[in-house]
Amino acid sequence: MKKFNINKNNRICEILGIQYPIIQGGLAYVGNGHLAAAVSEGGGFGQIGSAGRTPKGFEEEILIAREYTNKPLGVNIPIRGYEDNNVYLEVVNKHKNLIQGVSLGGGNPRPLIPYIQEMGLKTLVMTSTVKQALNVEKLGADIVICEGYEAGGNNGAAELTTLVLTQQVAEAISIPVVSAGGISNGRSMISVMILGAEGIQMGTRFVATTECEAHQNYKKKIVEAKDEDTIIMSRNIGGPRRVLKNTYSLHTQKLESHNHPVEELLPYLRGVHNKRAAIDGDVEGGFMGAGQVSGLIHDVVSATQVVKQVIEEAQNVVETFKSVQFI
Ligand SMILES: Cc1cc2nc3c(=O)[nH]c(=O)nc-3n(C[C@H](O)[C@H](O)[C@H](O)COP(=O)(O)O)c2cc1C
Repeated sequence: MKKFNINKNNRICEILGIQYPIIQGGLAYVGNGHLAAAVSEGGGFGQIGSAGRTPKGFEEEILIAREYTNKPLGVNIPIRGYEDNNVYLEVVNKHKNLIQGVSLGGGNPRPLIPYIQEMGLKTLVMTSTVKQALNVEKLGADIVICEGYEAGGNNGAAELTTLVLTQQVAEAISIPVVSAGGISNGRSMISVMILGAEGIQMGTRFVATTECEAHQNYKKKIVEAKDEDTIIMSRNIGGPRRVLKNTYSLHTQKLESHNHPVEELLPYLRGVHNKRAAIDGDVEGGFMGAGQVSGLIHDVVSATQVVKQVIEEAQNVVETFKSVQFI
């Protein structure tokens, strides 16, 4: 049995130089500098997202985050969907002294990992199958993040859940595993650590925080959401994407089910429709990424507070289970 601990001799904490193995996932459009700084100030690993930002905007958010914390920070670059990742990597290279790690989302990380390593930064790679995790380990990444189908935003095509994926990935590889998808509190943190993860990544929970630049209407939607309030959009056109159920996402899903041509459907997925809802607050006129865990998020609090609450609850859960006996 692996020795169980939250922050002592934890490999995620050691690799990233953080206090608690809690990572804020890359958040397209809403992964801003203030949010990343607040997570890192809480002892986790905050990340500035490149998705939805110009290279200049991405750079500005890195500088803002650094103004508000001197603790470790990361950035996220989703590989697929960009014609040229290099422009974002150039920004990372320019500011490599300000950050500690780069997480790579959806796509082939092979060409990017050596470049990130040359910069002296840690690499974290998102995966959604055991095969991908094995490949990523071979490529020399420092941390594998395995994300289940419960998660907000883009999902893996295999649609594996966090419960089964975490265990299978942890059994298959020896570099540390971070679990993502469906985690919002200390209970879920401990659950995935029992399954073999050494840390967690949360996305939706961090959208519903005061520092996140998501529009307040979007945060309100997450807080009000119940278990059935997210749906999968675009399964057959560009891959599954978990979003909040609203007029826009239901309409898109309906068009898809009526087999409209892909060229007609693709425009519905453009970032501008994400921005309209997530940043401008037109929460019926565009789409917003959010995980099934939305039904468990009941408030908008500081991201620093989220990290604190998750750790406190996790510690309590461990205490409670110490006395459990099976007779
Ligand atoms: C609004 C939103 C945007 C996201 N954008 C990205 C992204 O740009 N890059 C990425 O690697 N992951 C992205 N994700 C996935 C998160 O980083 C994280 O892995 C996921 O949210 C975890 O599941 P949870 O939502 O159940 O916490 C996004 C998630 C959400 C909710």
